Amino acid sequence: MPHLLHIDSSPRSDRSHTRRLTADFVQRWQDQHPDGTVTYRDVGRNPLPHVTEEWIAAAFTPPEERSPAMQVALQLSDELVDELSQADVIVAGIPFYNFGMPSGFKAYVDQIVRIGRTFLFDPHNEEAPYTPLVHGKRMIAVISRGDGGYGPGGRNEKHNHLDPHLRTVLRFIGIDDLEIVAAENDEHGGTDLANSLESARETLLELAQYSHC
Ligand SMILES: Cc1cc2nc3c(=O)[nH]c(=O)nc-3n(C[C@H](O)[C@H](O)[C@H](O)COP(=O)(O)O)c2cc1C
Repeated sequence: MPHLLHIDSSPRSDRSHTRRLTADFVQRWQDQHPDGTVTYRDVGRNPLPHVTEEWIAAAFTPPEERSPAMQVALQLSDELVDELSQADVIVAGIPFYNFGMPSGFKAYVDQIVRIGRTFLFDPHNEEAPYTPLVHGKRMIAVISRGDGGYGPGGRNEKHNHLDPHLRTVLRFIGIDDLEIVAAENDEHGGTDLANSLESARETLLELAQYSHC
């Protein structure tokens, strides 16, 4: 039974393009996978806490040595990592903010990139000190940008720090199978926006058809 994790991170509700696009993806995915199950996590309207000093100390303490307070500090992170682990497919709506990811999604990333849970670190292995622990996931990142030309060869390509950041951090924990689908021109509106949204939607519907695990 395939399982989909649906994440939204726009603080906007009805006006959010990423929310509408991820919803279209989920609907098509459910049509295609009637036996599939979906978990929804909204880190845009229900922001996650940033990591704290207590969180960091707990994460870098071996599990068997953690105090009850340390376990509490990691409770939400554990829940988020478990949620991610259970998914075969992840669809995440990510608005493009100040040339990168919004802080709501970054807080999510900081909670799930966890030593001992989603990656291992061995300082004695100089060649490859980091080992990813997440396997077999397919992720679709749904991005919306206000301006245009951030794609390959575009006039803003060099300012697009979101795509490379996502690819690096997700590969670090083992999510190599990443599709990035972007709509652009929210700030320009008109047919440029409409065409971009339609093209992103068509790509997503196609991906939903073939994304099971
Ligand atoms: C705080 C903030 C920062 C933004 N920074 C950028 C930016 O650097 N480049 C850009 O093209 N658009 C930028 N935008 C526009 C958003 O990317 C655009 O409105 C997008 O559609 C937001 O996603 P949503 O529709 O899902 O809310 C920014 C918007 C906000 C609110």
